[in-house]
Amino acid sequence: MTTVTTSPNVAATSALIPPHGGVLVDRVVTGADRERAIDEASSLTRIDLSAKQSCDLEMIGIGAFSPIEGFMGEAEFKSVCTDMKLTSGHHWPIPILLAVDKAGAPSVHDRVALYAPNGTLQGIMTVHEVYAHNKKLEIPHVFGTEDEAHPGVKQVMEEGDVCLGGPVEVLQVCVDPDGPEAFLEHRLTPAQTRAEFASKGWKTVSAFQTRNPIHRAHEYLCKCSQEITDGILIHPLVGETKPGDIPADVRMNCYQILIDEYFHPDHTMLSVMPGAMRYAGPREAILHALVRKNYGATHFIVGRDHAGVGDYYGTYDAQNIFDELDMDDIAIEPLKFEHAAWSNKAQGMVSGKTFPKIKGDQIFLSGTKVRELLAAGERPPAEFTRPEVADVLIEWATKA
Ligand code: ADX
Repeated sequence: MTTVTTSPNVAATSALIPPHGGVLVDRVVTGADRERAIDEASSLTRIDLSAKQSCDLEMIGIGAFSPIEGFMGEAEFKSVCTDMKLTSGHHWPIPILLAVDKAGAPSVHDRVALYAPNGTLQGIMTVHEVYAHNKKLEIPHVFGTEDEAHPGVKQVMEEGDVCLGGPVEVLQVCVDPDGPEAFLEHRLTPAQTRAEFASKGWKTVSAFQTRNPIHRAHEYLCKCSQEITDGILIHPLVGETKPGDIPADVRMNCYQILIDEYFHPDHTMLSVMPGAMRYAGPREAILHALVRKNYGATHFIVGRDHAGVGDYYGTYDAQNIFDELDMDDIAIEPLKFEHAAWSNKAQGMVSGKTFPKIKGDQIFLSGTKVRELLAAGERPPAEFTRPEVADVLIEWATKA
C-alpha cells in the first residue's frame, strides 16, 4: 500500500488559522507511488463515481475536507447526522459518503479503484466498512425536509443503498484538466491558498462562497468584508450544481471581469472550490465555513438564505445555526449580512440594518426576471448587475 503524508506546507504557514482538527490532510499520491498505484488499480474492482462523489474525492484528497481522510464509516455517518460532529468530537455537518449499489458491492479489506464520471482513474480506496445507507436518518437531519423535489434530497434518494467507508488515495486531482471547467490557474489547494495568503502578508482573510454570478448585493458583502480583513478570497463553488444554475465557466468570466474592473488587486484573490452543492442551507453553511477555514480564511460571509433553494429554509437560518455551535471548534468567524439591495433614496447599497425600508425604493429582481432579461439580450439595471457582468451573461443566455 502506498503512503500518504500530511502537507509539508502547513508548517511554513502555521501563523495562519489552523485547519479543522489541527492537521491539513493531503491524500494525493505522486511520483513512483502514483505509478505503482495506477498499476495496482488495473487489477482492482472498479467503482464508477457520481459527479458529487468525484467532487468529494477531490475535496478529501487536497485537504479541503480536513480532518476527513476518506469516505465516512457508519459511526461517523450517524454522529454527523444526529450531532453534527465527527466521532473525534469536532463539528462536521454533512456526511461524506460513498454510496454504491448493493449488487456487486466490494467486501471489507478490499481495495477498489475509483473512476470519475468521465472515465478517469481518480483514486483508490481501502474498504474498512460496508454498511447500509440509512437515508431515513440522513435526509431529514441534513436537509430538514424529506421532500423529493428538494435537489439535495432527490440526489441522496437516487444514491446506492450500501455505503463504503475507508481512507482514499487520490491519483488525479482535477479529473478533466483540459476541460472548460478545470480553471487550473485558479484551482489552488488549501496548502496553496495558505501559502498565497502568507506571501501577501494577509493575516485575516474573508472568504466568499458563491454559485452565482456576482451581482451588486454579493459585491457589497465582499466590499464590506474587505473593510475589516486584510483581503478577500472570492471562492466560487465550481463542482456539481443543479440543472438551471449558471455554468462555472460562464461565472468565472463574470468574476474575472468584475474583479479586474471593480476590486483592488492588492486585497482580492480569486480561486475556485471544486466541491459539489447540496442545497442544504444551514448545515451547508457550516460545511462551507469549515472548508474555507481549511483554505486558510479567518472569516466567512453568510448572507441571506445561504446555500438555500426554494422556500425550504428561513432567510437567516444559515446564520442562526452558528449560535448552536461550539465556536472555539468552528474557529472561523461568520460574517452575517442581512438582505442587501440598491436603494434609490440612499443612492447606494443598503440592508435592513443600514437604511429603513421605503415602499418601492429598493431594486429587487427575481432570478426568473433576470433570466428573462438576459435571454432577451437586455441588461438588468446597473444597480442590480454591473453592465460588464451583464454582457457576459447575455452572450451566454442568447447563444443557446
Ligand atoms: S449560495 O448557494 O452560494 O449561498 P449565492 O451565490 O447566491 O448562493 O450566494 C452567495 C452568498 O451571498 C451567500 O452567503 C448568500 O447568503 C449571499 N447573498 C446572496 N444574495 C444576497 C443578498 N441580496 N443580500 C445578502 N446576502 C446575499
